[in-house]
Amino acid sequence: MFRFDVLTLFPAIFDGFLSESILKSAIALEKLHVQLHDMRGWANDKHSRMDDRPFGGGPGMVLKVDCVVPCVDAVRAMDANSGKLIMLSPQGRKFDQKLAEQFASEERLILLCGRYEGFDERVVELLEPEEVSIGDYVLNGGEVAAMVLMESVMRLLPEVLGDGDSNRFDSFSSGNRLLDCVQYTRPREFRGLIVPEILLNGNHAEITRWRMENILQRTKSRRPDLLDGVDQ
Ligand code: ADE
Repeated sequence: MFRFDVLTLFPAIFDGFLSESILKSAIALEKLHVQLHDMRGWANDKHSRMDDRPFGGGPGMVLKVDCVVPCVDAVRAMDANSGKLIMLSPQGRKFDQKLAEQFASEERLILLCGRYEGFDERVVELLEPEEVSIGDYVLNGGEVAAMVLMESVMRLLPEVLGDGDSNRFDSFSSGNRLLDCVQYTRPREFRGLIVPEILLNGNHAEITRWRMENILQRTKSRRPDLLDGVDQ
């Protein structure tokens, strides 16, 4: 069973995320194990402080190496497979579908969520995590980024999605670097807008051709960068 361990100062952020929809059923059906760890449990002073002021001055607080490293060591030791350690950080490698696929081929991911001004650099030197950013913007901490990573990885795990095929044709899935086509469902007409006739006529060859054309058009106009180097 695939296992995520999440190390965070704010485990409650994950409550709703883990208790709804696909993740909830994957966990209930024991296709996925998610273990949250409150890093504050590894604080080593009487005030449960995990952070301290930066040497050299400056704003914000830095997560303490002597708390974080023992915490990661302890979590790693909770399973025979010591797992792949990922640190969510705006300084990390940009996350994309290809990286999600790589992570899905692991069996255990340990996600280290930062807060404040980040971690003491010795955490990185000692633990050598793979640093991952979900994009060029700054969040309050790594928790939301960890949820993005978890959701995109778990969709790729065999059996987690109800319909075995439903991720195979996703935009960006392996070898597929195009956007999805438009979709419609009932009613056929709403406020004067009518579903394209071709989708209603049951001619599957024509529908497939129309959808391919739609995919190319949409990709060309919205994400032309995805078509670089592709024959059109
Ligand atoms: N922590 C703060 N901002 C982040 C980002 N963009 N990606 C990953 N972790 C973060």
